[in-house]
Amino acid sequence: MLFIHHPDVIKPGRIVLRANTKMTQATRIIELKPDDETAVLQTAEILLEAFGGRAPEWPDIDSTLKYVRGSLAQTDPERINLVAVAGDGRVLGYAGGTNEGNGGFLWELDPLVVIADSRRLGIGRTLVEEVEERIRARGALTLWLGTDDWANLTSLGGTDLYPDVLGHLANIKNLANHPYAFYQKIGFVIVGVIPDSNGWGKPDILMAKRVAQEGITGISRSTRP
Ligand SMILES: CC(C)(COP(=O)(O)OP(=O)(O)OC[C@H]1O[C@@H](n2cnc3c(N)ncnc32)[C@H](O)[C@@H]1OP(=O)(O)O)[C@@H](O)C(=O)NCCC(=O)NCCS
Repeated sequence: MLFIHHPDVIKPGRIVLRANTKMTQATRIIELKPDDETAVLQTAEILLEAFGGRAPEWPDIDSTLKYVRGSLAQTDPERINLVAVAGDGRVLGYAGGTNEGNGGFLWELDPLVVIADSRRLGIGRTLVEEVEERIRARGALTLWLGTDDWANLTSLGGTDLYPDVLGHLANIKNLANHPYAFYQKIGFVIVGVIPDSNGWGKPDILMAKRVAQEGITGISRSTRP
């Protein structure tokens, strides 16, 4: 069934049903709680499935579980941990947001993952939108992220970006379904690149999105330092 974009229903217990184009009505975005052992384990499993082969800090389920538990030890307003869950409770996706501490204006989105069999259904977008909504309410202006190119999925991978780093960035091409295109679709823009961030020729592409509009947070250009 198709829905008009964003007739959100917020239920008690901070459960958000966000009616999106292809997500089923049963899919909910909820906070991941440390005492929900099943959901914590499933979250670690989908992280491992998506990143296990390439993130050196997550070689196995134990290290990935430790990361998730560490994230849950940080509490709001320092950290937001959201999961998308199916009607049967299965975790379908996870989004983490970290307050960068610059007066609360800047938050980092990391990680973001949707289980392989549920991609392209609007879950990733909905998770990010829910992070945005929550940090906007806390006065944030910017959400940023780094999206790595580990496998030459873009024209920035497998090449020496120096000395004209910004020239390479201005001419970036998506060669093989790199997720920076996903972030562009949901309003992020490329703001930089860190060459060799993950090894020779494996850069980190930096992206950001303004999550507040002038006046909404009470901060206008004229009052900024
Ligand atoms: C990237 C990821 C989170 C996207 O989640 P998703 O639930 O599949 O994305 P959505 O269905 O919400 O997609 C929103 C829009 O982006 C598009 N999109 C999704 N992935 C895309 C990609 N890799 N390239 C281009 N467009 C993409 C969708 O088609 C949709 O477009 P539409 O609005 O025109 O319909 C998911 O593919 C994933 O978990 N990948 C593996 C882990 C990963 O790479 N995480 C990001 C690391 S920085």
